[in-house]
Amino acid sequence: MSVVIRPAREEDAPQAQAVMNEAKTLPMLGGFVMLEQLKTGFTKGNGEKGIHNIVAEVDGEILGVSQISPHDYHIEMGLVAVHEDHRQKGYGSSMYFGHVLRAALEGRLFLLDQVAHFNEVMRYKYMPALDFHMELLQRNKIRNWCSLAYYRYDLLNKGLQPWIERFNKTGFEIQVEDHDYYKQKFAENRDELLRQGREEDAKKIGDNMVQAKEFLGLLG
Ligand SMILES: CC(C)(COP(=O)(O)OP(=O)(O)OC[C@H]1O[C@@H](n2cnc3c(N)ncnc32)[C@H](O)[C@@H]1OP(=O)(O)O)[C@@H](O)C(=O)NCCC(=O)NCCS
Repeated sequence: MSVVIRPAREEDAPQAQAVMNEAKTLPMLGGFVMLEQLKTGFTKGNGEKGIHNIVAEVDGEILGVSQISPHDYHIEMGLVAVHEDHRQKGYGSSMYFGHVLRAALEGRLFLLDQVAHFNEVMRYKYMPALDFHMELLQRNKIRNWCSLAYYRYDLLNKGLQPWIERFNKTGFEIQVEDHDYYKQKFAENRDELLRQGREEDAKKIGDNMVQAKEFLGLLG
């Protein structure tokens, strides 16, 4: 079996949409995911704006999809879904690892995730397993009935090691592009930390970036 975790391409959109719109998954994502919207998201560039997507491709079939949007110091996780028949095999967490690697290359400090209050698997199993901690619960945030719980992974202090150890057990392949944009973002974030007198933190994001490059074989 071949499992590849990689950036999404336009042609993945119909299969990814099917995964997101499975009957039991839909309520967790807050509604129907539109194909055209997804396609546009899949073709966006790698700049600061827009949505970025990773898929889990298993023997040529898209069984998982995960979106993020970048915001200055942090990355915000968007929708994530794994095919109902293929959960708890490591696809969800491996797609998150793809985002973590990118965040490290860019010198980001943390990752944020918003979860509907009734999503028990996500809130009480998946998030704690990945060491995300709940920070805030906003009551009746969506249409006056759905509360949102906000979870954070502190990349600055916890680093990449737990993710690398988890991923190394899977035997999956992971692809993360090395864009000039990531280098530019890293330099901006480091300079900002230095202007704030946070030399220690600037060193930590440097260590995370080197570790991500080492893992991806991008050093040298
Ligand atoms: C949340 C979701 C994406 C997780 O994907 P997944 O591929 O099953 O996750 P993983 O296999 O990588 O699980 C990572 C860890 O989470 C925990 N976990 C995940 N699902 C679990 C479950 N149903 N019961 C117990 N633990 C669970 C496990 O501890 C697992 O680690 P382990 O295998 O080392 O024990 C998947 O359940 C899903 O698609 N849910 C519906 C959509 C949704 O709720 N999306 C979130 C809102 S945007």
